[in-house]
Amino acid sequence: MIRKISAEETYPVRQQVLRPGRPAREVFFEGDLEPDTFHLGYFDAGKILGVATYVSRKNNFFEAAVQYQLRGMAVLPNHRGKNIGEELLLKGEKLLKSKDPEILLWFNAREVAIGFYKKYGYQAIGNPFMIPNVCMHIVMHKKL
Ligand SMILES: CC(C)(COP(=O)(O)OP(=O)(O)OC[C@H]1O[C@@H](n2cnc3c(N)ncnc32)[C@H](O)[C@@H]1OP(=O)(O)O)[C@@H](O)C(=O)NCCC(=O)NCCS
Repeated sequence: MIRKISAEETYPVRQQVLRPGRPAREVFFEGDLEPDTFHLGYFDAGKILGVATYVSRKNNFFEAAVQYQLRGMAVLPNHRGKNIGEELLLKGEKLLKSKDPEILLWFNAREVAIGFYKKYGYQAIGNPFMIPNVCMHIVMHKKL
């Protein structure tokens, strides 16, 4: 039910969940088209219900040699609480670990999603900050 997808296939879910009411150009994220980036989509009966993007990106908070950033984790509102987010996260972790056993995954977590990521062993670091036109975030991370 989870497969790799193109950046473009993530856009309808990103728009609805992460950028509602915002211009369509805002669903494009820096790094989307880089060769090391991969996008995962969760499908049921051919319909895409959730997406996540993994971008090769270093954050100066961390010393790990190999780091990826999770971006655009989003599950359609009517399909939340069915472990779709969990499956997108765990599948991404598995693929990343197969790239490098010492890999670190980090991301800017929405404050409302901190509890979700904590369930999977991610820790917050630094101070919360505002992403303009979006909401408060905090950096979270885990060595996979
Ligand atoms: C956060 C999000 C991706 C979670 O996806 P989901 O498919 O609803 O989550 P799951 O069903 O896989 O939940 C897995 C576990 O995390 C818990 N959980 C889910 N969302 C949570 C939240 N916001 N806070 C705390 N716990 C949460 C669930 O209760 C479940 O726990 P359980 O196994 O003990 O029952 C989804 O709610 C979403 O798209 N939210 C809006 C966009 C967003 O905030 N994205 C994250 C950007 S950083």
